[in-house]
Amino acid sequence: MSTEEQKEQFKRYKEDVERRGKSFYPHAMFHDTVMSFVVVSVIAALAAIWHYTSSEEPADAGLLGPRYHEEADPGTTSFLPRPDWYFYFLFYLLRIFKWPESVFLGTVGVPTILLIILLLVPFFDRRRERRLIRRPVAVVASLLVIASMGILTYKGATAEEPSAIGAEALLAANGIPAEDETLVQGADLFAKVGCLNCHTYASQGSAGPGPELTEVGNKGRGVDYWKDWIRDPSALGGEGMPGFPTLEDAQLEALGEFLEASKGGG
Ligand code: HEC
Repeated sequence: MSTEEQKEQFKRYKEDVERRGKSFYPHAMFHDTVMSFVVVSVIAALAAIWHYTSSEEPADAGLLGPRYHEEADPGTTSFLPRPDWYFYFLFYLLRIFKWPESVFLGTVGVPTILLIILLLVPFFDRRRERRLIRRPVAVVASLLVIASMGILTYKGATAEEPSAIGAEALLAANGIPAEDETLVQGADLFAKVGCLNCHTYASQGSAGPGPELTEVGNKGRGVDYWKDWIRDPSALGGEGMPGFPTLEDAQLEALGEFLEASKGGG
């Protein structure tokens, strides 16, 4: 489109606004203000109804659901963090991008690049064309975004929890006979208290931030070292791994035995 044509169009647009348009202040301001009040009032009313119809009793649901199902337990070690459904696509993205090489790319890099492109669109696509059929690039791009978010949401909703993995499966995958009761208990704890949220073990669990532990027994550190490590990694110069001070000595022992027996024999 030539500059002349653009100027012409811009002039027509300005005249059109002059003739039929309404100024932002006060018209649009007034609409926005009224609408904001309506939205906030609805939220406040729902909160009030919820508060006054429910009771302190967890079982008593009230009109809009109970206050809580179970009291929060800040000391839990077995809680599995799962996002609300509308974040499943991000949740699954984090599983695709592996720690630490590509997580930055996946969480900051790609969204930033996409946002910059989106901000630039009005500068390089200056046609007046609005019909979808004449804008194949924009339409295909939007459809692809919607489709990939849909697929990621589905994958996130059906993704298996790291701790759904049983002790026997962990032991078998690493070629450890499941006869020793301590080892079974250790593998069970390993799966249950959340170690797999940060570590890969025999291709199970998360890729990070902790190192893979399938062959950690080959380091020859000994059970006592692992007990101390799990209780408080920072005391041994570890960084990035939380301690598990609430585990009992027998549990630490079992975990230590399990780590020491992990020699990548699967
Ligand atoms: C929040 C994430 C996280 C959790 C949960 C976690 N770890 Fe770690 N772990 C790490 C990180 C990070 C490192 C690397 C620390 C370092 O090298 O300073 C690590 C290192 C280790 C190491 C290697 C130590 C070495 O010297 O090679 C072992 C063994 C280990 N973790 C076992 C466990 C066990 C067992 C559990 C469960 C009781 C567990 N981790 C839970 C993040 C975690």
